[in-house]
This record gives sequence, structure tokens and C-alpha cells, in this order.
Amino acid sequence: MIDMKELDECYRVAEELVLYAGKVIEDGINTKKSTKIKGIDWDLVTEYDRKIEDKLIKQLSAQFPSHKFIGEETVAKEDRLPQLTNDPTWIIDPIDGTTNFVHRFPHTCISVALLVDKKVEIGIIYNPLMRQFFSARRHCGAFLNGKPIKTSDVKDVSQSLVAMEPWLAKDPQHLASVYSRMHALIQNTHGIRSLGTAALTLCYVAMGAVEAYHIEGIDAWDVAAGKLIIEEAGGIIIDTAGGELDIMTPKVIAACNQQISQQLVDLFKKADSNVLNKNLT
Ligand code: IPD
Repeated sequence: MIDMKELDECYRVAEELVLYAGKVIEDGINTKKSTKIKGIDWDLVTEYDRKIEDKLIKQLSAQFPSHKFIGEETVAKEDRLPQLTNDPTWIIDPIDGTTNFVHRFPHTCISVALLVDKKVEIGIIYNPLMRQFFSARRHCGAFLNGKPIKTSDVKDVSQSLVAMEPWLAKDPQHLASVYSRMHALIQNTHGIRSLGTAALTLCYVAMGAVEAYHIEGIDAWDVAAGKLIIEEAGGIIIDTAGGELDIMTPKVIAACNQQISQQLVDLFKKADSNVLNKNLT
């Protein structure tokens, strides 16, 4: 169990650490980074990712010794994804949009969430390069630099701008489905956008900059904080097939409202069945 006073303290400490991490990103953005490849050949990691994650986990565990951690770089190092339990658990992406960071594309952020009983209680996402500090506490609303944010009120997908990341098409197994879904979006919306950071793009849905976002092949640290920020801004985040989102293996449709999310579920089902039918004929 964790009471409101402790949650307040958790938020205070997390905010301070995220602001510190933002300075590390600012200092590092224009330097030449030494990059390594994690697992698959396009998944980059820099010394900055590790430095930020180590600092965050060290400080948070000193302040809250009973809390658990799921951090992107620790999971990569140990090659083991811990189980999410009911214990207070911090889910951390030290740099979401590492490839952007390496290339100096200024959409990159730190994403920190605290879950209790598997529910996200605190979500913070910060892009120091654009000075965008997104935050949410459960039942308390979502904020950008302290000002409340709300999702778009567009209800018809034909009037929407949708973010999608097609990188999964690098894998031949996913190529046809990714292209088919992308084609469906191009035909049926105002347009598509691709930012290269899942956490920040979820915030763009929350602030009404895009109506929806679709991505698969990502991890808990890419979505945990953004899930709360979207929900507190009035939006919805579900599984691509239409059910509840599994935060540990997320396949994401995030949308400004239920109408848009359902229209996307239907659109993608149709796009996938087109691929299937082509394969059968
Ligand atoms: C990446 C970003 C990107 C998504 C990748 C993630 P990272 O996170 O969220 O948007 O397409 O799947 O790995 O590696 O930069 O923290």
C-alpha cells in the first residue's frame, strides 16, 4: 500500500530527477556519441541512456528502498524482463527516441512512470530540447508545463491526423501488414506523421496535436507514463485488436476518444484481412 503523502513525495523526487536528466540530454545533444546496438540492428543505445538510468534508479531506490524497477537499459543488460507485480514499480525509459538523440533530431525525452497495483499513478515525460514537460497523476488531470491539456474532439477518422511508426516493416514478417495499415491511413485520414519517440507521440495525442497514434513492437517503458497522460487528458489507449492494452507487451492504438480508436481498430482489421486474402490467392 502507498498513501497520498508518499505519492506526493514520489512525484516530487521523480520531477527533480527528470529535470536533472533533461540537463544531461541538453549537454549531450550536440556531442559525438559512442553508440552501441542492442539486440536488433537498428536499436541504438548511447552512454547517455545508461548514465541517466543508473542515476534515476540509484536515487529512487535510496529514497524508496521497497520499490521495484523496470528500466530499459537494465532489462537490456540483464536480458530479462521482470514480471510486473502489485508492488510500487518505477518503469523508466532514460532516453526515448535514442535514434533521434544520436541524429540531433530534437524529439527525444525521458519517460518515468510509477505503478501501484499495476495501475499507473504518476507519469512524467520531458523533452528538454523543446522545453515540454508533460505530467499526470491519476484522477488529477494531465499537464504540459503546468497547464492542463486535453485531447482533440475530432470524432471522424477522415478528419484526423494520425501518427504511426513503420520501422517494424524492416522485419519481412511484418512488412505487408505495416504497409497495408499505412496505406489505409493515407487513404482515410488527413495524413500521417512519424516522430521516432513513442512516449512523446503519446503526449502529442494527449495535447491534441494528433488525433491518434499506432505502434507495435515496443515495450512497457515506451508507454507506461504516456498511458496515464493520455487517459488523464480524456483520451484512450487500447490494444490494436480492440481489447485492453497489455502494458508489458504493448500493441498500441492511442486516440483522442473512443470513436476514433474504434474506427482505427476497424480500419486495421480490414487492412490486415486484405494482406491475408492476397496471400491466399
Ligand atoms: C524507441 C522509440 C521509437 C519506437 C522504438 C523504441 P528508444 O525507443 O520509442 O519511437 O519506434 O520501438 O525502441 O529505443 O529510443 O528508447
